[in-house]
Amino acid sequence: MKDVRKVVIPVAGWGTRSLPATKNIPKEMLPIYNKPVIQYVVEEAIRAGIKDVIFVTNRDKAVIEDHFDYNLQLEGVLERAGKEDKLKIVRDVAEMVNIMSVRQKKQLGLGHAILCAKELVHGDPFAIMVGDDLMFGGIPGIGQLIEVAMSENMPVVGVMEVPWDKVSKYGIIDGEEVAPGVYRVRDMVEKPNREDAPSRLAIVGRYVLTPDIFEYLEKVKPGKGGEIQLTDALQMLAKDRGMMAVRMSGMRFDAGDWAEFLTANVYFALQDEELRYELLGLLKNFVQFQ
Ligand code: G1P
Repeated sequence: MKDVRKVVIPVAGWGTRSLPATKNIPKEMLPIYNKPVIQYVVEEAIRAGIKDVIFVTNRDKAVIEDHFDYNLQLEGVLERAGKEDKLKIVRDVAEMVNIMSVRQKKQLGLGHAILCAKELVHGDPFAIMVGDDLMFGGIPGIGQLIEVAMSENMPVVGVMEVPWDKVSKYGIIDGEEVAPGVYRVRDMVEKPNREDAPSRLAIVGRYVLTPDIFEYLEKVKPGKGGEIQLTDALQMLAKDRGMMAVRMSGMRFDAGDWAEFLTANVYFALQDEELRYELLGLLKNFVQFQ
């Protein structure tokens, strides 16, 4: 397989789980400590050697692209004020990655969002990172998948074990473990009932795919919830071509879940040496009165 240099990040969803915060702000721009959610996702891609980012957007999401572009007016203000450190922070974000974007004009599902990126992917192997899923610790999440995709020359999905009462929120795989944490995928099903789930290995928003997925996305029929499901196209690809799954190591936060979003905020704030001490003091006081 050729090197994976592109990532498709679908960002056209409504973010209804995070209302009212997301009424006028894309969910991807909500801050976790001092950066928007989307910046963590892009930084994970960079650490895995990816420089080209394709956002699948809608009309209300331009601010996401702007975040990764220069803001000359702000830079001028910071320069004149002699705030060199702040100037560096805003410039670094603009220089992180190459940005491309395509509109998903109708919200027809995750599979449809990925299909919208077909022309920009241009026949190369590519990664997909779902913007709600934040991965931390150890080897960058998407990097773990790229390693297996390159060595096996096969598409790969990232999975994690979830409790049985959560399987209906995810795509679930049925696989044979061929090496520790590496599975050959036999089948997969989108958001099954607990009784129908073949395992509790859930797909967690990280994929490395070959461009033949687009042929399947073009012919797949609407599935769960009447949407064009990526999982349904992957299921066909797995049967025809073969597919691997990697049990991902590290921590995962679902940014669309308030408890996990807030935990992620505390986790990142605690990494900041200057803030850590003060924050722990405040939290201790606060917890006492609960
Ligand atoms: C999507 C996929 C699902 C996957 C999940 C991971 O679902 O359809 O297979 O497990 O992302 O976050 P969504 O969360 O968009 O409903």
